[in-house]
Amino acid sequence: MDVLTTRLIPKNGLQILKDAGCMVTQYTEKRDLTSKELIYACKRYDALLSVGPNKIDEHFLTECRHLKAISLLSAGYDNVDVSAANQMGIAIGYTPGVLSAATSDIAFLLMLAVSRNAFYQHNTIAKGEWGFFEPTANLGIELYGKTLGIFGLGKIGFELAKKCRAAYQMKLIYHNRHSNEAVEKELGATLVTFDELLAKSDVLSVHAGLSAQTRGLFSKEIFEKMKSTAIFINTARGAIHNEEDLLAALQQGKIWGAGLDVTNPEPMSSNNPLLSLRNVCVLPHIGSATVETRNAMAVIAAKNIIAGLRGEQMPHVVNPEVYRR
Ligand code: DGY
Repeated sequence: MDVLTTRLIPKNGLQILKDAGCMVTQYTEKRDLTSKELIYACKRYDALLSVGPNKIDEHFLTECRHLKAISLLSAGYDNVDVSAANQMGIAIGYTPGVLSAATSDIAFLLMLAVSRNAFYQHNTIAKGEWGFFEPTANLGIELYGKTLGIFGLGKIGFELAKKCRAAYQMKLIYHNRHSNEAVEKELGATLVTFDELLAKSDVLSVHAGLSAQTRGLFSKEIFEKMKSTAIFINTARGAIHNEEDLLAALQQGKIWGAGLDVTNPEPMSSNNPLLSLRNVCVLPHIGSATVETRNAMAVIAAKNIIAGLRGEQMPHVVNPEVYRR
């Protein structure tokens, strides 16, 4: 069975595929394949382990119906047309559940770094501008006892909430479609309306998936409803916030700071004005980028592929409904 991976994957995942008798080809060029190239490449393979933003849309699924298994190496699946996959009865594997610790660490890191202007200060030293000590200069804000608001509380948000509670005894509020009993019981979090989340959060951290409902949601009117002292954190998907509106909100003091592990587009351009603001910290989408987490993701994706090739149900699938038919 021939498997294509669209980028180099961790060795443990590769080994699992090889031990199962798969011949694996890894696409090593440091660029995304175009839709046309991906379809053309997939014609010669039995399975696709897709890394990155490859469009698994209706056209791809129609052209590549021969694939016995498709798995993503990500928890997010906004690049997949799930309703087209459902209609065609095609299961799409993904790698949920194992990224929560690493991604919540990045949200926590950004929150703290923004609160103390850390990246900006680092850059001023690098430019030879350490400057003169003044009691009124370089002031950050403290997080102790402040309110963390989580937009889209799933496993990553839960992990972040635990960290913020333990480190700073932060009050926890969240906005979700459904209440999360575990987080309410364990951490005393409160479900609030979206407007309350905006009005009350000192730190607002986004952990929702990208969907028609969340695309561009954090825009001018929304930033205007937040506290002028609030920190906005996004480690989910860059398209959930409107970058121009975020920049304006920061420049006009509508909010205090922002920490982004995701941007729109990715990569962010080096002359993006957000990078020069003192209360902004940006990272290059490294939420899941630890050895442990990437290994765990590679194992899950490899097992998904093997199950699909064997005609079995993939252990982690975006659309389990296709198996219920
Ligand atoms: C995910 O798994 O969705 C991460 O954002 C990496 O793409």
